[in-house]
Amino acid sequence: MVGGRGLKLLLSSPLLLLVLALSSSSWCPSAYGTIDINYEYFQKITVWVYNELDPNTTLTIHCKSKDDDLGEHTLSYNQEFHWKFRNNFYWTTLFWCNMWWHDSNGRLVQTSHDAYYARRDYARNCRADCFWSIRKDGWYYGYNLTSGKLMFTWDKQIQ
Ligand SMILES: *[C@@H]1O[C@H](CO)[C@@H](O)[C@H](O)[C@H]1NC(C)=O
Ligand SMILES: *[C@@H]1O[C@H](CO)[C@@H](O)[C@H](O)[C@H]1NC(C)=O
Repeated sequence: MVGGRGLKLLLSSPLLLLVLALSSSSWCPSAYGTIDINYEYFQKITVWVYNELDPNTTLTIHCKSKDDDLGEHTLSYNQEFHWKFRNNFYWTTLFWCNMWWHDSNGRLVQTSHDAYYARRDYARNCRADCFWSIRKDGWYYGYNLTSGKLMFTWDKQIQ
């Protein structure tokens, strides 16, 4: 899906092949700075989302990219939803998610953020596997469930 299109664009673009040939081990995709590019960038990436709210609270998530609607999924405590894709050549691969749950007073808690963005995430927050731990104080993100850092609270963006 995403990866196939990226590959076709890559192979059909002489300019990009030239850029690829001239670039050494690193390049500068954006204001996020210089990133080492390697084969791993084009391997399959898996994004995992875990409900770590509390044992009695279900989390509903709905994630999308420009090309794919991953559907709505309701997760009970410790359940996960994940999806796989390949990064495109342009570092623009983007998935975003809307997530919501009800607190103990029945109040709806909801927010929507980028769940994977190649320029933000690759080799910065995670590589082949990216883990979201969704907790009552916000969305934690990182290489695994335990080392994640708080990226978003339910009402405001931290970074
Ligand atoms: C979950 O619900 C059960 C039964 O209502 C209750 O005893 C327990 O304290 C709740 N746990 C949490 C973490 O709210
Ligand atoms: C989780 O990721 C951190 C940061 O990459 C790493 O230091 C730690 O060893 C990992 N923990 C586990 C259990 O894999």
